[in-house]
Amino acid sequence: MTFDRSLKIAPSILSADFANFGAECEAIEAQGADWVHVDVMDGHFVPNITFGPATCAAIRPHIKGVMDVHLMIAPVDPYIDAFAAAGADHITAHVEAGPHIHRTLQAIRGAGAKAGVAINPGTPAEAVAPLLDMADLVLVMTVNPGFGGQKFIHATLDKIRAIRAMIGDRPIHIQVDGGIDAKTAPLAAKAGANALVAGSAVFKGGSVSEPKVYGRNIKAIREAALGTYV
Ligand code: DX5
Ligand code: ZN
Repeated sequence: MTFDRSLKIAPSILSADFANFGAECEAIEAQGADWVHVDVMDGHFVPNITFGPATCAAIRPHIKGVMDVHLMIAPVDPYIDAFAAAGADHITAHVEAGPHIHRTLQAIRGAGAKAGVAINPGTPAEAVAPLLDMADLVLVMTVNPGFGGQKFIHATLDKIRAIRAMIGDRPIHIQVDGGIDAKTAPLAAKAGANALVAGSAVFKGGSVSEPKVYGRNIKAIREAALGTYV
């Protein structure tokens, strides 16, 4: 498939109803989500626990498009095959999660998934420079990972700009994650992000019985971002 840098909205199911993941995934896709963002947390790399490969496998049949799996776990390598077998299209690992991110990205591609590399707010843009030939996606965390509903960290915008310049014409997505809403999405898009993760801002006010709210929320983020996306 050819690379496509068009703007993508990736709702995070961290803000969905955990008792209803299948229907929630179907609802956000029907309401305009481009990718379904799945936040895996281990209570060790980040101070919160969500779910693992079994949940990813269970929701896979409910997702028509891209299952975008963000691993906030350490170690990563022992679990890559399990997430690939669960049907992850993208598997993103953090540079801070271990000493061998290069090997991790190789293993992700080796398992047949697109490889993403994530950096926390305290990690400089230069950390991804040696990895760009190994990566299909760079995820710039715009909050400290672990919880939904946090405030966007504006100091990450310079980093997005720096990474956008580093990437040039390479077929690599720049994803932002944390505190993205209709106010901050245009800032991230202007700085060069093309894949916007949003949890609270997509799911707020809606439910599987009120899915149109998701549609309105997604549209508000997309339209705001398209106003500045180049
Ligand atoms: C943070 C997660 C995010 C989070 C975003 O640790 O990686 O995906 O769910 O949530 P909001 O959009 O509510 O900041
Ligand atoms: Zn995430």
